[in-house]
Amino acid sequence: MRLAGKRVLLIVSGGIAAYKIPELVRLLRGEGAEVRCVLTAAGAKFVTPLVLQTLSGHPVGEDLFPLGGEAEIGHIQLSRAADVLLVAPATADLLARMACGLGNDLASAVLLATDKPVLVAPAMNVRMWQHPATQANVATLRARGIGVIGPESGPMACNEFGPGRMSEPEALLAALVALLAPAPGPLAGRHVLVTSGPTHEPIDPVRYLANRSSGRQGHAVAAALAALGARVTLVSGPVALADPEGMAVRHVETAEQMLAACLEALPADAAVCAAAVADWRVAEIAAGKLKKQPGAAAPRLELVANPDILATLAAPGRNRPRLVVGFAAETADLLAHAEAKRRQKQADWIVANDVGGGSGIMGGTENEIHLLTAAGVEHWPRLAKEEVARRLALRIAQALAAT
Ligand code: CTP
Repeated sequence: MRLAGKRVLLIVSGGIAAYKIPELVRLLRGEGAEVRCVLTAAGAKFVTPLVLQTLSGHPVGEDLFPLGGEAEIGHIQLSRAADVLLVAPATADLLARMACGLGNDLASAVLLATDKPVLVAPAMNVRMWQHPATQANVATLRARGIGVIGPESGPMACNEFGPGRMSEPEALLAALVALLAPAPGPLAGRHVLVTSGPTHEPIDPVRYLANRSSGRQGHAVAAALAALGARVTLVSGPVALADPEGMAVRHVETAEQMLAACLEALPADAAVCAAAVADWRVAEIAAGKLKKQPGAAAPRLELVANPDILATLAAPGRNRPRLVVGFAAETADLLAHAEAKRRQKQADWIVANDVGGGSGIMGGTENEIHLLTAAGVEHWPRLAKEEVARRLALRIAQALAAT
């Protein structure tokens, strides 16, 4: 009963594959889902409302303006009272109407009115599927976040062969289960702390010391860990990125604030320090804006060392996360410096990258890293920062599972 209590709105349009929908309704109900069906006029030529009503246990929606008024199952109400909408089969015509935002029958009006996730299972003749209009419509729908299942390749009712067959009811069920009841990820039940972005160290009320970190890599690591089921606390310095979904985000400015937020977030199973923390702060922050005095020398800033967050988290103690991962941004002698950092800061792993001029890494979208562990050094190819994050999150999951 993987779908117990979940409400599925099934929109059936006019394709021969509609004959498989009664079986899908049966499978969904077998998993505990509540199923309601909307049938287009063309769909009703392939499967009768009576079959769908009998199997779903609910009246089937067919008219946008039923004679009894909108009160019973109006299109707005239908679209809201569901956890997911599945269009199966989705004909070329209905996909086109969805892409255009038409609402000229109950099915299309429901799809236009919904704020719930929508999946479509296209089914049509291979040429209709391959037509540039259909491909453009499907691309539009994907770009809007609509999930597309299939179509599969194989012999078709119209005696042609190729992509266009609707995915089997079991595959549609699996897609709904993946969406509504995803299997717990390998980091389920783990808490991971991630630092990201630069810090800003104030000089006076309007000026600060900072660096070029964009936070892209750290934020991507936080998102990848959350995608594997971890409870993530992201402690972020000032960045221009949106907060990633599904995690607690603590916004800080300075290194001292970042350390305090990290200590507050403990205990954690793992910590990933991806922030480019400023190593120094100004000893005394001016209360008012520093002014230029004609002829006077430029002010001399006295700097003092900031706390090292990675070293603090990795220091032996009761609250030390089992796995502490640091980053090393270097412009020369990458591996030697990175290994020295790993030992000095007592980190388990260091993700080392060369940020020398021309690498385009700091602030860029790609990263090329070396992973230093007690076991040695691995060189990873140049990858998108999201892919580096995904691989690192998987490695973290493996390491936590092994300890
Ligand atoms: N780090 C930290 N707190 C600091 C400085 C660095 O937590 N005050 C962490 C970073 O998040 C990173 C690692 O330490 O995981 C290494 O950062 P990096 O800037 O490469 O090294 P530094 O320790 O600052 O040394 P240096 O600037 O001399 O290379």
